[in-house]
Amino acid sequence: MPRGRYVRLKTRLPDAATAARYLLYWQSTDLYHHAEDFPQLDSISLFGNQHPLELEVGCGTGEFLCTLAARTPQTNYVGVDLARKAVFLAVDNAARLGLTNIMFIKADIMLVLPLLVPESLQSVYLHFPAPHIQARHRRRGILSQRFVDGIYRALVINGRLSIMTDQPAVVCQIGNLTRDDRRFETVREEEAMPEMDAALKSKYQQMWERKGRAFERLEVYKRSLLALLLCVVTGLALVACSTPGASEQTVVPTATPTPRELSQQVGAATLAVQSMHFGIEVSGAPVPAEPSGFFALVSMEGDMQRPDGVMATVKVKSITGVAEVRVVSLAGQQYVTNPITRQWMCVPPGVAFDPAILFDPQVGMEQLLQTDIEDVTLVGIEDLDGRPHYHLRGTVPGERLQAISYGTLGAGAVTADLWAEMDTLRATRVVLVDTSTDANRPSTWSMQFSEYDKDVDLRVPPGVDC
Ligand SMILES: C[S@@+](CC[C@H](N)C(=O)[O-])C[C@H]1O[C@@H](n2cnc3c(N)ncnc32)[C@H](O)[C@@H]1O
Repeated sequence: MPRGRYVRLKTRLPDAATAARYLLYWQSTDLYHHAEDFPQLDSISLFGNQHPLELEVGCGTGEFLCTLAARTPQTNYVGVDLARKAVFLAVDNAARLGLTNIMFIKADIMLVLPLLVPESLQSVYLHFPAPHIQARHRRRGILSQRFVDGIYRALVINGRLSIMTDQPAVVCQIGNLTRDDRRFETVREEEAMPEMDAALKSKYQQMWERKGRAFERLEVYKRSLLALLLCVVTGLALVACSTPGASEQTVVPTATPTPRELSQQVGAATLAVQSMHFGIEVSGAPVPAEPSGFFALVSMEGDMQRPDGVMATVKVKSITGVAEVRVVSLAGQQYVTNPITRQWMCVPPGVAFDPAILFDPQVGMEQLLQTDIEDVTLVGIEDLDGRPHYHLRGTVPGERLQAISYGTLGAGAVTADLWAEMDTLRATRVVLVDTSTDANRPSTWSMQFSEYDKDVDLRVPPGVDC
């Protein structure tokens, strides 16, 4: 059966005033080549207010969206469709009803997605989309990971994506993309649609109904961070995450880890790593590297191997400039190179900053994350190097940091930001900000950890015998 088209629709261009009020007419080539010339889309930019905003993708002639807009004047609606004639008719409908809370954009939704302001949409409707199920058409279709990702980004927390269709393949395609995607929760996935208010039926819904077609419906919503945490961190919740209609089933209650507990888990997971690469950048007020204060720490980069080995290249700054020294710390003995002669020499314990203490199983960073970080909050889940990370923030008592930073940090409490991979819970980044010495130029340690459990060739430097 041929699917409906708009070719026979009789339309005319809306007059200038109506077009100015209801229509944005965007060419794909302009959107593609000059996206920066187009506005970011949210309620403010489209309607000049902050009312909730809902989007219909492929709104066709706009009957469904106009009915919603007439019924809910405190919500704004925007319909996007590629088909020029359909959009002109939608504009005509809105103008006849005198609606003030609706706009239509004639454009390709795939080019509009990047313009949607993150967390700006309350609901997205994809009702009776063209299926494009044949392989040769799939490239044109909107039933793609890129579409799902774009919609996820634009939805508010708990905002929903509603799909209605006469094509089981459509629900299957979107269902496959959202069902195992923990960012979404399926509200319902039904083979038959509930009885619907006639006025809310779209043009295509009415048409397929007349032809006696069956419909399917899928509704998912964007999980809150806490719900996402529940799913990712607790194995139990995975059952609920992957089961359609889970929210309507009895979910086994399970404790969500608090940010404090997460920080403890991150400390433990990082402590379990046998070796890793690290880099530390120091900025702000100078951090002395030895008691005279003549040398200030600039950066260090190297490898750590448990139980007590570190080798690193350390950059220090003095009035004469920046110098580089190599450091090896093994079994409690520290060796450094003379910055001028580059000869290795032994450093008696306690005479200079020893990077090995940062990873000491009793007092190092991993232990600190487990026991000494206070007032921990979850800032969010963020992408670092393409992988999702927990971002936690807390404070560390100054005296606790003095112990591991050779007294260079921690005259007062220090703010700690911590990023850890969501799947392994291993720390990949820690930023310590000490405002107590100089509030305007806080001493800041930015530490990066990577290459966990790699092989490290760590040995006593040649030619030294301490
Ligand atoms: C089958 S019609 C359904 C229209 C309306 N939702 C309804 O139920 O009556 C599908 C609509 O999606 C539109 N469409 C298809 N691909 C699109 C895209 N990439 N961007 C915007 N609209 C698109 C088509 O122009 C068409 O109007």
